[in-house]
Amino acid sequence: MAPMPMSSYPKKIKIVEVGPRDGLQNERAQIPTEAKIKFVHGLAKAGLKNIEATSFVHPKAVPQLADAMEVLTALDDLPEDTDVSVLVPNMRGLDRAISAGSKHIAVFTACSESFNQKNIKCGIEESFERITPVIERAKAEGIKIRGYVSTVFGCPYEGDVDPKVALAVTQRLLDLGCYEVSLGDTIGVATPRSVQKAMSVILEGVGPEKLALHFHDTRGTALVNVFLGMQLGIRVFDASAGGLGGCPYAPGAAGNLSTEDLVYFLQGLGVETGVDLEALAEASLTLEQSLDHPLPGRTVATFRDKFCREKQSQA
Ligand code: HMG
Ligand code: MG
Repeated sequence: MAPMPMSSYPKKIKIVEVGPRDGLQNERAQIPTEAKIKFVHGLAKAGLKNIEATSFVHPKAVPQLADAMEVLTALDDLPEDTDVSVLVPNMRGLDRAISAGSKHIAVFTACSESFNQKNIKCGIEESFERITPVIERAKAEGIKIRGYVSTVFGCPYEGDVDPKVALAVTQRLLDLGCYEVSLGDTIGVATPRSVQKAMSVILEGVGPEKLALHFHDTRGTALVNVFLGMQLGIRVFDASAGGLGGCPYAPGAAGNLSTEDLVYFLQGLGVETGVDLEALAEASLTLEQSLDHPLPGRTVATFRDKFCREKQSQA
C-alpha cells in the first residue's frame, strides 16, 4: 500500500472514550464512586463528546462497576452534546440502564466461542438470543445501540480468528439495529499486517462508516494500527484516558490505547479531535490518585510532574 499523502488525512476523527468502563473494569483497588463521577466530568470538560461511562454487567462479574446506577445518575448535568453510553450484556442489564436514565447502550459479543464462554457464559449463537430482545426493546424505547465484536484480531484461548466470522457477527449486529460496530483487539495482538488481513475481509461486506476500531495496547502497536485503520477509511477509534484498561476475562490484555497518546498523534497529523490535551491529562491524573499504580499511558506521563507540583502548591 502506498503511504497516505498528508493532504488526504481526514479532517476529523471521532474518539469514543471508554476509560470509565473498559479502563476501570480491570482495576483491582476499589475506586470511590465520587472519583469515577469526577473522572467522567473531567473527560467531558476536556472536550470528549462520546464517553462510555460505566457498565451494567453482573456486579459479580465486574465488582468494580457495581455502582453503575450511582455513576450514571450523577452525570445528568453534563453538557447536552456529551453523548454518554453504557455497556449492557442482557435484559437485566438493560432494565438497570433504563432505570438509570440511559439513552445510549453498547451490546457486545465476540467472534470466538471460547472467549464468549469465559466472558458472558455463552457461545456466539446464544449471545444473539440474548442481544436480539435487548436491541428490540432499546429501539422501542428510542435508545441508541452500539455494538462490539471482541477478539477480531486474535483470541486468548483460540489464537487466530477467522475474519469471515468477524464479518458475519458484525453484519448481524448491524442488521439488528446497531448504528456502528466497534471491532476489538481484545488482547492487543494486532499488527498492521493482521489488521489489513482482517479488514480486507470485513470491509468487503461492511462500509467503513459503520465501523470503529478498538485497540488494546499490550504490545505498543495500537497507534500504528490506528494509522492503518485511518488509511482504510475508519474515522472512529476507541481509546481510554491514561491508557487504563483490560478485560478481566481476557488473560494478557493490557490497557486500551491511551486517549492522550491518540490525541497527541492526531494533533500532530493536523486532524481535529476537539480535545484539550492538558485538560484530559488532568482528568486522568486526578483519577490516578485513586489507583494503586501509575497510569500506563506515555503522553499522560509528560504532564505528571506539572500536575503534582500544582497539587502540592494547592495543599
Ligand atoms: P449469568 O450468571 O449467566 O446470568 O451471567 P444469568 O442470566 O444466569 O442470571 C443469574 C443471576 O444474575 C440472576 O439473578 C440475574 O437476575 C442476575 P437471580 O434471578 O439468580 O437472583 N443478573 C444480573 N444482575 C445484574 N445485572 C445484570 C445481570 N444479569 C444477570 N446485567 C452475564 C451472564 C452476561 C450477565 C455475566 O457473565 C456478565 O455480566 N458478564 C460480563 C463480563 C464483562 O463485563 N466483561 C468485560 C466487558 S466486555 C469487554 O471488555 C470487551 C470490549 O471492551 C471490546 C474488546 O476489547 O474486545 C467491549
Ligand atoms: Mg476492550
